[in-house]
Amino acid sequence: NVDKLWGGRFRETTHKLMEEFSESVSYDSALYEQDIRGSMAHARMLAARGVIPQEDAEAICTGLEQVKREIETGELVWKTELEDVHMNIESRLTEIIGEAGKRLHTGRSRNDQVALDFRLYVADRLEGWKKGIAALVSVLVTQAEAHQETILPGCTHYQPAQPVALAHHLLAYATMLMRDEERITDCLKRVRVSPLGAAALAGTTYPIDPERSASELGLPETFANSMDAVSDRDFAVEAVFCASLTMAHLSRMAEEIIIWANPNFGFVKLPDAFSTGSSIMPQKKNPDSAELVRGKTGRVYGSLMTLLTVVKGLPMTYNRDLQEDKEPFFDADRTVVGALGIMAGLVSELTFQAEAMTRALDKGFVNATELADYLVTKGVPFREAHHASGRAVALAESKGCGLEGLSLEELKAIAPELEQDVYDVLDYANCVARRKAPGGTGPESVARQLEAVHGWLKER
Ligand code: ARG
Repeated sequence: NVDKLWGGRFRETTHKLMEEFSESVSYDSALYEQDIRGSMAHARMLAARGVIPQEDAEAICTGLEQVKREIETGELVWKTELEDVHMNIESRLTEIIGEAGKRLHTGRSRNDQVALDFRLYVADRLEGWKKGIAALVSVLVTQAEAHQETILPGCTHYQPAQPVALAHHLLAYATMLMRDEERITDCLKRVRVSPLGAAALAGTTYPIDPERSASELGLPETFANSMDAVSDRDFAVEAVFCASLTMAHLSRMAEEIIIWANPNFGFVKLPDAFSTGSSIMPQKKNPDSAELVRGKTGRVYGSLMTLLTVVKGLPMTYNRDLQEDKEPFFDADRTVVGALGIMAGLVSELTFQAEAMTRALDKGFVNATELADYLVTKGVPFREAHHASGRAVALAESKGCGLEGLSLEELKAIAPELEQDVYDVLDYANCVARRKAPGGTGPESVARQLEAVHGWLKER
């Protein structure tokens, strides 16, 4: 253990089992770029403050450039004995530049170092999530634009309720996703805080300048409390929560696509490129892409639960438990980025089947509310109007037609206030068109929504 970076006080070597159990370099090597960036900023700050000689800082930065190249070309051999990405890089640096490399860790601990690296990493990934969401919103808005006149039965309780424009339906998902993107932007404010300078837990005696290193790293804020800085991972928990909620929205969308693709609905034709077949049933085209998005949502929730549980019982300050923060984030990241890409591809290639939607409208009596509202305009109290419309539904159901299939005599027998013009009111397109109020499914409202989403996309 004498050759370990922390080996001074040890006499015996680490047990092989302990070495394997505690290593993290097999996965935290993913943080190499952030680790090197952070170390360069730290070295320059130390030199600027006269803590280490300028030449040493320069040697450190040149040496780190070389380490980075060695990592990227696959030349550098990661060593389990060196535990993690931080000690692997530092020890390679010292091999290359000697003495000066040993000055890099002045006024710093792996505790603020790892918190910094992870924050930089999470911030980078979150920028990618935002791009993935914007790309999907853009696909949704393109499909919505093409389907402003396509009408389908909107549901409550998954039973036909009222007719809506397909554009309005798709824009509901765009609206959720825009909130997800904004939530990530907000989360980034709390991710992009530099913990560098907190050192092990108590701060440091060196005359450091945390703001200088933070600003070199593009982080607008620095830690307020060194103990908090090294011991909390709330930024990662919050990030994975943002991913979880995004996945919830993608999963809802996936679920609807799966249902719509069932031939009993037939609302949508799946693209071959995002579907799979069956090894036994020749006719099958399965929505596996959407099913996997729905299924993988559980993994991301699992990562969120893992992170919440990792932090829940930790006394101040750094505890090795915190090493368990990275893998759940990596997994959530891979999953949400993959799911966003798949959904954008899938949705952009869906072929919506307007005739199947019209047939479904006919079966669902989704204009029954309009019939009641019509009677209200003729002075019938709403409760009575509701009842009369319900009787018309029962009659139409027994005859196997829609409300508009009933003759005026049949309608008048139910409510004498009904006149010829009721058929206009029952028309599905009119049901939609008459919903002019803000945020509703009417064409004016849909046009306003489309404009707003375009504006939102332009700002991105
Ligand atoms: N690999 C460690 C982690 O991910 C780095 C920090 C180790 N700090 C320590 N005091 N052992 O948390």
